[in-house]
Amino acid sequence: MTNFTPVNIHENEKEFADLKIIIKRKIGFNCEDYKQPHLKRRLAVRLRATQSASYKDYAQVLLKNADEEKQLKETLTVNVTELFRNPETYESVRNNILPELIKYKGNNRVIKVWSAGCSNGEEPYSIAILLNEYLGSSARRYNISILGTDIDEDSLEKAENGVFQPKQLEKLEKERIARFFIRKDDNYKVIDELKKLVKVKRHDLISGPKLTGFDIIFCRNVTIYFEEKLQEILYMNFYDALNEGGYFVMGKTETLVGPASQSFKRFDLKERIYTKKERL
Ligand SMILES: C[S@@+](CC[C@H](N)C(=O)[O-])C[C@H]1O[C@@H](n2cnc3c(N)ncnc32)[C@H](O)[C@@H]1O
Repeated sequence: MTNFTPVNIHENEKEFADLKIIIKRKIGFNCEDYKQPHLKRRLAVRLRATQSASYKDYAQVLLKNADEEKQLKETLTVNVTELFRNPETYESVRNNILPELIKYKGNNRVIKVWSAGCSNGEEPYSIAILLNEYLGSSARRYNISILGTDIDEDSLEKAENGVFQPKQLEKLEKERIARFFIRKDDNYKVIDELKKLVKVKRHDLISGPKLTGFDIIFCRNVTIYFEEKLQEILYMNFYDALNEGGYFVMGKTETLVGPASQSFKRFDLKERIYTKKERL
């Protein structure tokens, strides 16, 4: 195991600004749009790990060491997630959103869901399980697509594989595991029936193209790291990305800010779920 000897990080704003430019150039990460104290905390992890005494020292490490790019990316993108994270939110999606959505759609059997900031795929696969369980045998009559997007390619590779370690399935009911996963060596792989519903692709919420046409958008535990001005823009982007009557599911600790808080209609405040109504 690496021995992370703590160093006394010399904080210099000019060096911090220069480092942010290098990071943008090297790994395409838009530092300015993230909350600066959060960014500094994440950078401190890499400064310590590389024994850098200052942002300037660390910039040199980053410029000379290709491996460090990967490490930095991993540190800046907080990938913590789990299957059915905040199960009560999924309960609400199942009990409140899905019956309403299916009724609203009528003969239109196309359902498009976006998991924005999907990390290693736990969120899109949980949604796929939920839809499959809810629709039962009629699922095959629907054209369901769940798009998982993230800025981090390593996470997306895991999402694409759909393979989980036993400890990642610990909180799942035995029936769910038996029905939706197959053993693969020491791990569990999602069954093809589920996998074909989920597509993943790299997409930067900050600088990527605008996506549209979704019935439900999940964006949970991603925007908390962004500056409020950017949050305002993204929430309106999500509003525009939803079909009329669509739903926006936020993280449990997140709050709608800016014009979107007027445009969206409250659906389940406790679970931070909003719905799209006509803009006046
Ligand atoms: C804490 S995880 C959330 C995963 C999942 N939504 C959940 O709630 O369990 C945050 C994810 O947001 C991604 N992310 C950070 N900045 C992003 C950006 N600009 N565009 C897209 N994804 C981003 C990270 O790579 C990370 O996988």
